[in-house]
Amino acid sequence: MIEEFHFHSSSEEHTIKLGELLGKLINPGTIIALKGDLGAGKTVFVKGIAKGLNVEEEPNSPTFVIMNAYEGRLPLYHFDLYRISGANELEGIGYEDCFYGKGVSVVEWADRAEEIFPESSLTVEISIPKEGENNPDKLRKLKFRGKKQWLSSFKNSVEQASLA
Ligand SMILES: Nc1ncnc2c1ncn2[C@@H]1O[C@H](COP(=O)(O)OP(=O)(O)OP(=O)(O)O)[C@@H](O)[C@H]1O
Ligand SMILES: [Mg+2]
Repeated sequence: MIEEFHFHSSSEEHTIKLGELLGKLINPGTIIALKGDLGAGKTVFVKGIAKGLNVEEEPNSPTFVIMNAYEGRLPLYHFDLYRISGANELEGIGYEDCFYGKGVSVVEWADRAEEIFPESSLTVEISIPKEGENNPDKLRKLKFRGKKQWLSSFKNSVEQASLA
């Protein structure tokens, strides 16, 4: 069954906490496709996931490489596909070893290579709502979509932590 729901985040710290809760629940082989405009908060969300996986380092945008690996409760593979123009550019970099290994793969700009994502991937789309009254500039909408059984536990834990 496909789960789909969204939360709003009011600050960078809020987005980190949402990522952290997800990072705590995540299991080996999870692939997360992150989508959203420049500056939406994808890397901020990855920092939270890393925290939830007990990664000591703080991920930042991989500027010159497509992927950075971190050690944690599970290995974390942080991809950023901003600079690629299509999935063909991923041939030969061995992303499959990350995707289908025992770690967790989190991919910024997943829309650049839609076809590499298996159906079981979790998609998180972060958007910046249009500004207006009652709409502070730090507001972000995070939409979650996937087939993972644990997504409803994630939804519950966000609500219980009053982060919804
Ligand atoms: N609610 C929020 N959640 C996340 N980030 C926020 C929020 N409000 C403001 N920000 C700010 O937005 C910026 C998000 O930057 P970030 O690098 O995470 O974006 P990104 O989506 O990874 O961009 P890029 O496409 O360039 O990789 C940060 O400067 C952060 O402080
Ligand atoms: Mg980024």
